Amino acid sequence: MKYFIDTANLDQIKEAHDLGVLDGVTTNPTLMAKEGIKGHDAVYNHYKTICEIVKNGDVSAEVTTVSFKDMVEQGKSLAAIHKNIVVKVPMTVDGVKAMKWFTDNGIRTNCTLIFSAGQAMLAAKVGAAYVSPFIGRIDDSGWDGLELIQQIATIFAVQNIKSQILAASIRSSLHIIKCAEAGANVCTCPLDSIIGLTKHPLTDIGLQKFMEDAKKFQ
Ligand code: G3P
Repeated sequence: MKYFIDTANLDQIKEAHDLGVLDGVTTNPTLMAKEGIKGHDAVYNHYKTICEIVKNGDVSAEVTTVSFKDMVEQGKSLAAIHKNIVVKVPMTVDGVKAMKWFTDNGIRTNCTLIFSAGQAMLAAKVGAAYVSPFIGRIDDSGWDGLELIQQIATIFAVQNIKSQILAASIRSSLHIIKCAEAGANVCTCPLDSIIGLTKHPLTDIGLQKFMEDAKKFQ
């Protein structure tokens, strides 16, 4: 499973990269707004900087338009920023049409706001490189996000579908482990949830004892 970081914060992206586990980045309008980036040039420069930090990994840049025509125009311009930009498109009727256009024109897409297997199937049908089920938001609403990952993974395996399942809206380190178990190809996570994978109380206790004993022979 690949590890993406779900943020537009450059310090966090650098930290994940320095940890050696960063395979890519996903952003969305909420995450971009959080960084206080304003205006066309600033936004495009920010995406370019993210691509340069990630080096070889994919970076999802989301359209902020809703009509087919506007999404196509904006997506073309986002894709031109860097070869690793993947255009993030919402699961709507116009979004499906736009993803088909992007596929036919050699632009890779990540279909966002996926909350059902049918949505994932349709995104895959029009050639989305990634489909992004939002598992945390499903859990928040009293359903089981991981069940959706399992269902999509089963359908994609049975049907030999090549789109990658990108588990999004991750809330914890346990979500990452469960997504790997359920068959996600990619998990896009907050930095804390990735760092959380390093933690175990027995590791801390064991390390403390080793350090104490090390003093006895140094
Ligand atoms: O980037 C899409 C997704 O990961 C959003 O997560 O935490 O806003 O539900 P969240």
